[in-house]
Amino acid sequence: MHREDFEMLNNNIVYFDNGATTFKPKLVVNAINDYYTKYTANAHRGDYKNSLLVNEKYDEARQKVANFINAESSSEIVFTSGATHSLNFVVFNYFKKILKKGDEVLTTLSEHASNLLPWFVLEKEIGIKVKYIELNEDYEVTLENVEKAINNNTRVIALAHITNVIGDIRPIKDICVLAHRRDIKVVVDAAQSIAHTKVDVRDLDVDFLAFSAHKMYGPTGIGVLYGKYSLLEEMEPLFYGGGMNAIYSKDGYIELMEIPTRFEAGTQNIEGVIGLSAAIDYINKIGISNISKYEEELRDYLIKKLKELDFIEIYNISDSNINVAFNIKNVFSQDTAIYLDKYNICIRAGNHCSKVLNEVISVNNTCRISLSFYNTKDEIDLLINVLKNSKNLYKEIL
Ligand code: ALA
Repeated sequence: MHREDFEMLNNNIVYFDNGATTFKPKLVVNAINDYYTKYTANAHRGDYKNSLLVNEKYDEARQKVANFINAESSSEIVFTSGATHSLNFVVFNYFKKILKKGDEVLTTLSEHASNLLPWFVLEKEIGIKVKYIELNEDYEVTLENVEKAINNNTRVIALAHITNVIGDIRPIKDICVLAHRRDIKVVVDAAQSIAHTKVDVRDLDVDFLAFSAHKMYGPTGIGVLYGKYSLLEEMEPLFYGGGMNAIYSKDGYIELMEIPTRFEAGTQNIEGVIGLSAAIDYINKIGISNISKYEEELRDYLIKKLKELDFIEIYNISDSNINVAFNIKNVFSQDTAIYLDKYNICIRAGNHCSKVLNEVISVNNTCRISLSFYNTKDEIDLLINVLKNSKNLYKEIL
């Protein structure tokens, strides 16, 4: 679908690494280009026309993000450098201040490092405990297992909406019901879901949600932290400087700007915000439900074709989403990736920043195909043919 919108697709490559980053449509590239060639200025600092235009674009982008995830207000949208920044911000700037020794955070072994490592640091710094919800035989989170893992010390549940290797979709809405009954906060990493399925923060009722623009057809270096307004109100800024203060005086008095501006010190990533705004326009134009429907069809086709190859081991057959993890039996995953690259097929291989997942799937490294709506069944057929001819793989790559 819509392949003509992506100049990268003219480069004779088959791109199956959308979970790492997506290509950018012309609309996004042009929006960034326009900012640099037609109206460059800083935001919220000038009184001339271009500066006012930048203010307008910046504020409009925040509102667009809020609408996209159905936040109650644009004040709940904090711009960050990406999902990693958002998650670290919420762990070190909110939970570090309210959690105490012995408090427990529930998560799983299939999370991305960004939603595990900050919690590990809190374990060391303040003595919280990170506990793992047991995954079922398909490596999924079930409500039953979440319930089993909760005890009187549980304060936070931190999960990906869709995981980056196994790709399972978590029942976040039901988990939030369960959690909020016990006054447990829910932090969701939506990096892998935001471009592929409707993310509605009010329907899910999450407390915090993080995502990056570059996995949703926008630029790198810009992301979002969504937080319920009442929770953002409890937070202090992490950085101090220009733009985030309303008044200060030489005796050290600081009056902060309103939320969320107080969390965005210094000149912000304006081109990123403008690019993210264009990416949202682009996704809205196609329709997220059309994207989901097509990508699901594509994934079913990919699984069906991979299953026909008896020398392939697939690790997540039962899920219906965009990430598929597999290996050619007895072949190191990175060797498979290098072999496929010879045919201009781009996949990711390794542990995908999820280095404890191996304890669950019993293999250290996998090949991962992560699909987008601009992939086609023809591209999958090409992959399958190349895999079929992989008997001499080591001859070809050595
Ligand atoms: N987090 C990105 C991935 O899963 C980089 O590939």
